[in-house]
Amino acid sequence: MEQEHSDEAIRTEGISKHYEQVKAVRGINITVNKGELFGLLGPNGAGKSTLIGILATMLRPTEGTARVWGHDIRNEPTEVRMSIGVVFQGTTLDQKLTGRENLDIHGRLYGLGKKERHKRIHEVLKLVELNDWADEVVQKYSGGMMRRLEIARGLMHHPNVLFLDEPTLGLDPQTRNHIWEYIKKLNQEKNITMILTTHYMEEADMLCNRIAIIDHGEIIAEGTPQELKAELGGDIITLNFSNEDEATKMVEHYKNHNNHNPDTNEISTTGTSIRITATDGERTIPELMKISTDLNLHIESVSLRKPTLDDVFLHHTGKNIRYSGPDDRKRRRGIRRMSRNAR
Ligand SMILES: Nc1ncnc2c1ncn2[C@@H]1O[C@H](COP(=O)(O)OP(=O)(O)OP(=O)(O)O)[C@@H](O)[C@H]1O
Ligand SMILES: [Mg+2]
Repeated sequence: MEQEHSDEAIRTEGISKHYEQVKAVRGINITVNKGELFGLLGPNGAGKSTLIGILATMLRPTEGTARVWGHDIRNEPTEVRMSIGVVFQGTTLDQKLTGRENLDIHGRLYGLGKKERHKRIHEVLKLVELNDWADEVVQKYSGGMMRRLEIARGLMHHPNVLFLDEPTLGLDPQTRNHIWEYIKKLNQEKNITMILTTHYMEEADMLCNRIAIIDHGEIIAEGTPQELKAELGGDIITLNFSNEDEATKMVEHYKNHNNHNPDTNEISTTGTSIRITATDGERTIPELMKISTDLNLHIESVSLRKPTLDDVFLHHTGKNIRYSGPDDRKRRRGIRRMSRNAR
């Protein structure tokens, strides 16, 4: 079995997790290949942390199972834990200890000897450029530095797979960029397989080799960012009208008379604006302008852009992933509740 799937770092088989009436995760089947930087993209409450918790053997699945680095999460949790590092959504650092002390405790937990711990602490701190801060208490660290220390801690015992649950949640854009660089470096230079969860579209888009989009505990789309966007069938044109009547008239006319246009793949309306997906946007716009002139409709603005993962999410779910601003911190704290509920 292990030999047969030797390229696979993770394979899940119908993983579900129910909390009384809440079905947090529903029959998830995903495969992550060795060396991949795999993204689990989904809105608040989609089930991302629950799935990570199960794969990291912190939570027991209600149904299904998974193999992580060849080991079954139900029957071989110790072997799974030795193969993985985890960076949780909420910080689990001891604020009163120094960076070095936090790493040292982790090394002891994993049975590393004194010499090995000393050497490894230096190595992992170097990776995240924190050696100068090793002997400062974590309380003095910025949010980004704490994140880097947590990544370093996750790497202490030489894991093959690193789970990162919302690695840049609540960080400012510059610090986020910085963390992205470390993640890329670890994946490409140290060849660590990574599974990261995020609700930031651009994070998944620019970092991940492959993405699974999760909503209400189910995977609704999977592929490389390019594949997912290409599935939408081209450029996105948005037309804005001065009122809803005009927008509706335009859509009706287009649907009734322009079905023959091979470039147009999808048309939908929300309020005064219309979205059209077209294989060749540049060619479709003049046609749309002509129709609106013929119908005596007044187009207020037109835009043409390439699809984003936001559009992919909208296409599959009918809604936008909402960016949660001020409550980000609350969500980071929320994960402690999950850790407490670990078996
Ligand atoms: N211990 C628990 N008891 C009951 N319900 C829970 C528990 N943990 C999570 N849930 C529920 O399960 C669902 C999935 O939660 P989860 O934390 O996995 O989502 P998430 O995708 O990580 O969300 P976020 O982006 O906010 O971190 C939510 O509806 C959540 O309220
Ligand atoms: Mg979460």
